[in-house]
Amino acid sequence: METIHNAAVAVDDGLVVAVGDTDDVTDAHPPSAADETYDAAGQAVLPGFVDPHTHALFAGDRSDEFEAKLRGKSYQELLAEGGGILRTVEAVRKADEDTLLANLLSHLDVMLEHGTTTVEVKSGYGLDTDTELRMLRVIGRADEQHPVDVVPTFMGAHAVPQGMDTDDYVDEVCDEQLPAVAEQGIAQFCDVFCEEGVFSVDQSRRVLEAGMEHGLTPKVHAEELAHIGGTQLAAELGATSADHLLHSTAEDVDALVDAGVVPVLLPGTAFGLGAAYADAGMMRDRDAPVAIATDFNPNCHSHSMGFAQSLACVGMGMTPAEALLASTRNAAAALDLPARHGTLREGAPGDLVVLDAPSFRHVPYQYGVNLVETVWKGGVRVSG
Ligand code: NIG
Ligand code: FE
Repeated sequence: METIHNAAVAVDDGLVVAVGDTDDVTDAHPPSAADETYDAAGQAVLPGFVDPHTHALFAGDRSDEFEAKLRGKSYQELLAEGGGILRTVEAVRKADEDTLLANLLSHLDVMLEHGTTTVEVKSGYGLDTDTELRMLRVIGRADEQHPVDVVPTFMGAHAVPQGMDTDDYVDEVCDEQLPAVAEQGIAQFCDVFCEEGVFSVDQSRRVLEAGMEHGLTPKVHAEELAHIGGTQLAAELGATSADHLLHSTAEDVDALVDAGVVPVLLPGTAFGLGAAYADAGMMRDRDAPVAIATDFNPNCHSHSMGFAQSLACVGMGMTPAEALLASTRNAAAALDLPARHGTLREGAPGDLVVLDAPSFRHVPYQYGVNLVETVWKGGVRVSG
């Protein structure tokens, strides 16, 4: 990563056309000829943040579960009682498309104010064909209507509907949900909650292979609560990313690196669950191109990539520069975005964050504060 002092950026037609020393940039692109100029003296300018793992489309309120967890109830206990994901499923099934859209747009507003310019959003609170399709339609409409770019992921295999046998549900995901999603062309990725007591490695493989047959790229929720082999599955299938990885081993991470799978760490989830963080130091030793994400969902209610950076530094021992790369360039790779996304080079999208602070270090350093002053998307000022 490079820091340029006394720098300027020129954006034309949505793309960065020059970045470097102010005199050089302004000689080539005179401010007098520009439609708009912005003086960021004393402020750091960063690439817009890319949040590569969220469940930002939901309905209902689970703040009481936050309290139950503080009193010692586990995530799995809540799920087994029909709470957790299953409770959000009930609320989402009852919500019409416009209500869901309004919910998602309001969350995207907050994310944008916090500097996120691209976000991945998963379905997975429907667990039936109609509601999964409704969620993905809403995700598509939000992408059209909101300045933040929204990348759609199908996650029918997020939980097993109450009272249903897991294998029967896997059949439904593969034989009904996936073909319907593929026919409408409304998802790019297919994700699965490969977890003890949810979907086994074999069941997860079935879902992801069926997704691949329908043109969807695999992603895996792996080793969040227990180590069952989801990381190796992600490597075996050449997934774009393997996410969570709280219990992944060094061998698992070697397999990801060899297979070109991006490890996505979600420090907010570990923070909220009171669990041990993923081993980012071990991943650094293996040259893994780690990304971080908010995992924004009713169980991890944070929209802020800045907060994720604070936790990545304080909780996982990442440096501020690593946390920034994990929130930009590596996060873009976790979404298969073109090479220059998440950077501030010539040819990158004009997605810029201007901080009310002189350096990128202040983002993780000033935890609990939103330092984002202004956000530009494709060269257009969209926040601040
Ligand atoms: O990534 N672990 C599975 N899915 C989400 C949680 C979703 C929820 O609890 O509503 C996650 O943490
Ligand atoms: Fe998740």
